[in-house]
Amino acid sequence: MPYINAFLSHHVGRPGQFRSIRYVVLSYKNNVNPCQFHQPHLYYSSLKAHKQPPPPPLQQKCKQAKMKAFVTVEGRTAAVQEIPSPTPSEGEILVRVHYAAQNPTDWKAVPHRPAGRIIGCDFAGTVADANGSHWREGQRVAGFVYGTMDGPLRGAYAEYLVTGSSFVWSVPDSVTFKDASTISLAFATAVQAMFQRLGLPEPSKPATSPFPVLINGGTSSVGLYAVQLAKLAGLYVIATASKQNHDLLTALGADAVVDYKDPAWPQKVRELSHDNLQHAFDCVAEKETTATVARAMSPTNGGRVVCILPRKTAELPEDISKVKVESTIVYTVFGDPLELGDSPFENWGGPTPQDRKFWEKYLGMLPEYLESGKIKPNPSRELGGLEAVAEGFALQQQGKVRAEKLVYKIA
Ligand SMILES: NC(=O)c1ccc[n+]([C@@H]2O[C@H](COP(=O)([O-])OP(=O)(O)OC[C@H]3O[C@@H](n4cnc5c(N)ncnc54)[C@H](OP(=O)(O)O)[C@@H]3O)[C@@H](O)[C@H]2O)c1
Repeated sequence: MPYINAFLSHHVGRPGQFRSIRYVVLSYKNNVNPCQFHQPHLYYSSLKAHKQPPPPPLQQKCKQAKMKAFVTVEGRTAAVQEIPSPTPSEGEILVRVHYAAQNPTDWKAVPHRPAGRIIGCDFAGTVADANGSHWREGQRVAGFVYGTMDGPLRGAYAEYLVTGSSFVWSVPDSVTFKDASTISLAFATAVQAMFQRLGLPEPSKPATSPFPVLINGGTSSVGLYAVQLAKLAGLYVIATASKQNHDLLTALGADAVVDYKDPAWPQKVRELSHDNLQHAFDCVAEKETTATVARAMSPTNGGRVVCILPRKTAELPEDISKVKVESTIVYTVFGDPLELGDSPFENWGGPTPQDRKFWEKYLGMLPEYLESGKIKPNPSRELGGLEAVAEGFALQQQGKVRAEKLVYKIA
């Protein structure tokens, strides 16, 4: 059936469709790949007569039956294996993955999933089967999936992946696949945390006067986008980073950068914000970092800290009383209920259509943000192909991935 779908969607509405459908029916009856019946001379002469540009080669859609992927295996670990290529269902597309990027969630998930799950979330590639959607085969797209999930099977460290047709963005010609692969998950997290949860003004309707916001962990993957988005939203952006990364954050729009290794940094933020910091995004969100962020907030008004690990207000030291801590998880952008056990993320549980709608809005804006240079992709380091992912996991676990994204070339 995948061959039939691919072949039909390629030919419907074009000259020669009836002959093509006959080939498909014949091939299906004979259990043969209909690509073998393709007759380019007939096809292209009829296209010429109708002055239509030639479509991408048919082979692009007739993907191989097996593919290489980095998957979970017995013993709570992972390995490159050959597995069946996925097939898109209704509302989904098939993507040929060119580059995939690494996030901490990729290696954190491995010990918690059964064998046979495909790892990886961030990707960029070409549409291999548009499956009746508005996308075209061969079109350059990027996005992220909830890697290691089953029902339906999702994962980006693979030659092909399936995703919902509304969960990818069109990659402009000026953006490489490598850069495009680094963006989606971290960008979506920053958008969700700052605009939906923290309630900051969005870039489409920036603040009329620039009130302060703190981005703790400004050089993390999420923080680099948070800094840029906060600047676009017209805010006074204070970020934390190691000293050697201050210039990077200033170039991305931060108004002030403080060194989080200096024990007096919360005091410096209070001075920079004139004791009026009421909004903070903690992109590191360890128990100690959130407590330290809380010390930088306005002592009279308090404020809100949004975290991307499951932190709670009750974890703050007793002498901090006016600060509220919330947590958010990005996977709600897919709209489906999440099963996260006793995880205290504020936004998980039942269906989340509002989070999906919000992400779809920003997916539509990403091409212009990148083309105009308003948003710059994170710096990246290419480690190799699928075989290099295990090394990348080890590097990040050892804290050796800083202010950069590890990427893998798949095709
Ligand atoms: N909830 C969600 O939906 C969600 C989504 C994405 C990520 N996350 C989680 O968020 C965390 C960060 O992910 P990521 O991919 O953005 O991380 P990452 O890129 O690996 O973060 C590395 C950066 O963190 C900075 N850093 C380390 N310790 C810090 C501290 N104490 N204070 C300030 N900055 C510090 C370092 O800055 P310097 O190099 O300047 O020292 C480094 O550049 C992970 O735990 C991840 O699992 C959650």
